[in-house]
Amino acid sequence: MRRRWLAKSLSIGLLIFIVIAIDRVALYLGTTQSLPAMELPPHVERQFWNSSSDLGVRIIRPVYAVIPDTRDGRKNVTVLLTIWLKRVGARASLYDLPHQAQDSIRLMVWVDNPFNLHSRQFGHLKLPVDHAHWMPNLLFETSTPGPVLRAEYEPETKHRGMVIDHIIRPYSFRVDLPDGVGDCFKIVEVSYPMHKASICLPPAKSEPTCEWLAPPAKYNTTYPALYTAIGAVRHTDSTRDWVGYQDQVAAQLWNYVTYQVAMGASGLLLYADELQREYLLRNPNTAELMRRGHLRLIEWDMHERGHMDDDGRGRPLGYNYDQALFASHVNLGLSACGSNLWVIVTDIDEYIYIPKPGHRWPAPLHACMEPAAPNITIHSLQRFEVLSSAISPEEERGYWITPGTLGGLAPASSNGSGIASGGVNVSFVHPLEFYDRVFAQPLNRIHGKAVVQPAARVVLFFVHDAVPLHGTVKLVHHKCMVLLHVPNFHGGRRQPSEGMMLQPFQNWVFGGRDVNETMAGVEE
Ligand SMILES: *[C@@H]1O[C@H](CO)[C@@H](O)[C@H](O)[C@H]1NC(C)=O
Ligand SMILES: *[C@@H]1O[C@H](CO)[C@@H](O)[C@H](O)[C@H]1NC(C)=O
Ligand SMILES: *[C@@H]1O[C@H](CO)[C@@H](O)[C@H](O)[C@H]1NC(C)=O
Ligand SMILES: *[C@@H]1O[C@H](CO)[C@@H](O)[C@H](O)[C@H]1NC(C)=O
Ligand SMILES: *[C@@H]1O[C@H](CO)[C@@H](O)[C@H](O)[C@H]1NC(C)=O
Ligand SMILES: *[C@@H]1O[C@H](CO)[C@@H](O)[C@H](O)[C@H]1NC(C)=O
Ligand SMILES: *[C@@H]1O[C@H](CO)[C@@H](O)[C@H](O)[C@H]1NC(C)=O
Repeated sequence: MRRRWLAKSLSIGLLIFIVIAIDRVALYLGTTQSLPAMELPPHVERQFWNSSSDLGVRIIRPVYAVIPDTRDGRKNVTVLLTIWLKRVGARASLYDLPHQAQDSIRLMVWVDNPFNLHSRQFGHLKLPVDHAHWMPNLLFETSTPGPVLRAEYEPETKHRGMVIDHIIRPYSFRVDLPDGVGDCFKIVEVSYPMHKASICLPPAKSEPTCEWLAPPAKYNTTYPALYTAIGAVRHTDSTRDWVGYQDQVAAQLWNYVTYQVAMGASGLLLYADELQREYLLRNPNTAELMRRGHLRLIEWDMHERGHMDDDGRGRPLGYNYDQALFASHVNLGLSACGSNLWVIVTDIDEYIYIPKPGHRWPAPLHACMEPAAPNITIHSLQRFEVLSSAISPEEERGYWITPGTLGGLAPASSNGSGIASGGVNVSFVHPLEFYDRVFAQPLNRIHGKAVVQPAARVVLFFVHDAVPLHGTVKLVHHKCMVLLHVPNFHGGRRQPSEGMMLQPFQNWVFGGRDVNETMAGVEE
């Protein structure tokens, strides 16, 4: 009896195994037929895999909460919270600011209303209610006999008044940790008291992000690292041609990074999902940038969020819906670092320009940014649009998706041999070299972008403005440092004939000598 039962279960097991195996083979064949082989080029070795990081930020989702009244008139809506957490402070490192002595956990929180996942403004997500109307009430349980700690909303009233439209900005909270509470917590949202998310966050000094980006032996307060950060470079449609698309992104990144580094930046923090990370690790140009430490991939597995209605600007796919989230994430992730690290949250079509010939970051910080006032932790840059008289607006995109040569640094040759010192086609100059016209006036100040010091705990971030909890915000003179914006980077948006006041422009990085008055360097 028993033996028959055993035989029966064995044959059922075998059958299941065969079914699964056939399925796997079918799946395998299916995949190999539809995807080209992606061999790892020999020079992309194991060492590159640590060129990606989550900046030591943990993520918990979903956590549930009930909102009594949402903006769209619903009552008692169960919403989904995404909570990003980072342990900060008490690092006792060389460049800590005074407030960084306190051991804390900082949080950023986004709230999705499942009845309306696509509520957006300028394509960017909106919260279901304003910060002033409702906010999550999060408790951190510690092991007995320790206390239950409440997460405090970080901005004070004076900070909230510095920006408008809180509805497009994530919440930020902080829990200051008393001595001896340990590293593990249970997190509770009070409207769902019986659901608890456990998490263990080791002390900030054991987390390597700051040393990874700004080793104290190399960067200090007077010679700080500057990184640019870019959100997910998603296609504006939900393309399935990601093989072709990621190649174009890799070329754009090559052009972007080589230029920013020539202006003194330490590198780019690129927010990328798993698919993009996979391809950029294999592309010889981006792999080379990673090997040099000039490109760091930040793990950002936020899904595509397409839907049927467009946002009034012809964009059904919210390709940049999470702009405020990634910007807040980079500020959170770097907030344990000290005064030897700055970051600019930017776009792939924006290029740092320091008008005084030969001056690279951090020269302007001392020459014309810092002396203006003490304790500036956000330097707001003005943006100037640049155009080309040499190539037509419609052609510009083609130049940017071709890796160019800058300062003798040529891209990998197409046979994947890596950066070749000889034998590469150096006749593709860097695309920015073709830009010889600049608008006489900057874009409106409210459309600036900032150089921020994350150590100052920058909150309430949207694309163009943010609030430091420590220090102040200051506009940078356009003769000191600006961003050049390439409006036709993705396609022809602006014609040189638009009649705006255009001035001749020659970027000194490409060896030109005549620098136009508009942005000629400020004397020290
Ligand atoms: C990766 O980690 C190893 C060991 O920690 C380090 O030596 C190497 O420089 C790192 N590589 C990058 C690209 O950060
Ligand atoms: C919402 O919840 C509150 C508190 O539980 C309850 O008093 C109220 O009746 C609810 N409102 C609706 C419309 O369900
Ligand atoms: C800061 O770093 C720069 C560049 O590494 C170095 O030249 C300078 O001496 C350092 N300054 C201090 C005060 O350590
Ligand atoms: C600048 O910051 C330091 C350290 O946080 C503080 O002691 C000082 O009072 C600040 N100065 C001004 C003018 O805000
Ligand atoms: C790839 O191209 C470079 C430059 O043209 C050349 O030196 C190298 O031999 C080529 N490698 C292979 C494997 O064909
Ligand atoms: C090099 O690039 C130039 C400019 O596009 C092109 O005309 C030329 O054919 C290329 N040469 C080779 C050998 O690929
Ligand atoms: C700078 O721009 C002004 C205004 O367009 C123009 O008159 C002047 O010739 C330019 N200077 C140089 C050196 O190109």
